Amino acid sequence: MSATYKIAVIPGDGIGVEVIGAGLTVLRALSQQGDGFNLETTEYDWGCDLYRRTGAFMPEDGAEQLRAHDAIFFGAVGAPDVPDHLSLWGLRLAICQPLDQYANVRPTRILPGITSPLRGVDEGDLDWVIVRENSEGEYSGQGGRSHRGLASEVATEVAIFTRTGVERIMRFAFELARSRPRKQLTVVTKSNAQRFGMVLWDEIAQEVAADFPDVRLDKMLVDAMTVRMTLDPASLDVIVATNLHADILSDLAAALSGSIGLAPTANLNPERTTPSMFEPIHGSAFAIAGQGIANPIATFWSAAMMLEHLGEQAAADRLMRAIGRVTASAEFHTPDLGGSATTGKVTQAVIRAIRETNA
Ligand code: NAI
Ligand code: MG
Repeated sequence: MSATYKIAVIPGDGIGVEVIGAGLTVLRALSQQGDGFNLETTEYDWGCDLYRRTGAFMPEDGAEQLRAHDAIFFGAVGAPDVPDHLSLWGLRLAICQPLDQYANVRPTRILPGITSPLRGVDEGDLDWVIVRENSEGEYSGQGGRSHRGLASEVATEVAIFTRTGVERIMRFAFELARSRPRKQLTVVTKSNAQRFGMVLWDEIAQEVAADFPDVRLDKMLVDAMTVRMTLDPASLDVIVATNLHADILSDLAAALSGSIGLAPTANLNPERTTPSMFEPIHGSAFAIAGQGIANPIATFWSAAMMLEHLGEQAAADRLMRAIGRVTASAEFHTPDLGGSATTGKVTQAVIRAIRETNA
């Protein structure tokens, strides 16, 4: 008997709506293959439109409503006429934080047929998973502003590092590193300049390392890390970094692997006491919204991560194989990859590949 999963769907704004629509079409096609599974989706119209109408991006009990689901499939939030700090904190962080999705997992590799902007770097030369601390650090939300508009105006933005928060993300990253063939973890830090939070971060990494003698640990300052990612991508495997550092490094990673339109992410609650959330890394990209040319691959890959989290490994593998068969052909490259394919054309190609692939 095939399982049924309750999925909360939040398309959000801009191309979020287009790529999530495409993602659901692909998930439905996939659910009919092999042993199959059932999706019970509930769509929420949360985002900037709701904010313009009501002053809130989601209902006050929004995060509570999501708890009843097995997973959340999220597009993007943000619009040109709405300040980004309002939309981000009003929706995405308003979900991640109360649901304690503290591990943000961002796999990066060069898919078949995709050209990296790095000379001589092909499939297999760049295969990373970035683990981003997703609950505290620089985005903990502590700070304030005083004396607005005066010459003496002051603003603070406090980075918070707790032993609990750092230890759990380190354990998660070590476990992930252990599960991969190379068993290597790079801890990104800035403890030369930041003597408190970042030194605690490094110390806890060393402490946790004692429980993972089979994992090779190395440490990189975040500035030097950008150089290593660019010049020696094959030397990296699993990477763990703070909320801010990993935010920046993962955009770099996405660009190096071909396009931000390919990059997926999972916001995980590893203990599974709350639903986890799966989304493309990119935003609402209003410059291309409504044109039907958004690259849906990042969303398909995010859907594969969702299936893997739900325990549908065979379906996840089938989807990743289909994605690879489609990216391999330049005919199905969207404009961000230098092609002229539409979102719809890529979606149909992935569905055909799903049906043609024997699992
Ligand atoms: P963005 O990711 O929306 O766009 C950056 C660039 O990448 C643009 O040139 C865009 O056209 C291109 N791009 C992004 N996704 C693409 C796709 N699937 N296919 C083809 N090209 C793609 O980032 P930007 O412009 O900084 O932010 C736009 C809005 O999105 C802002 O309001 C921002 O706050 C929000 N945002 C929301 C996120 C989320 O909901 N998780 C994440 C990042 C940004
Ligand atoms: Mg970002």
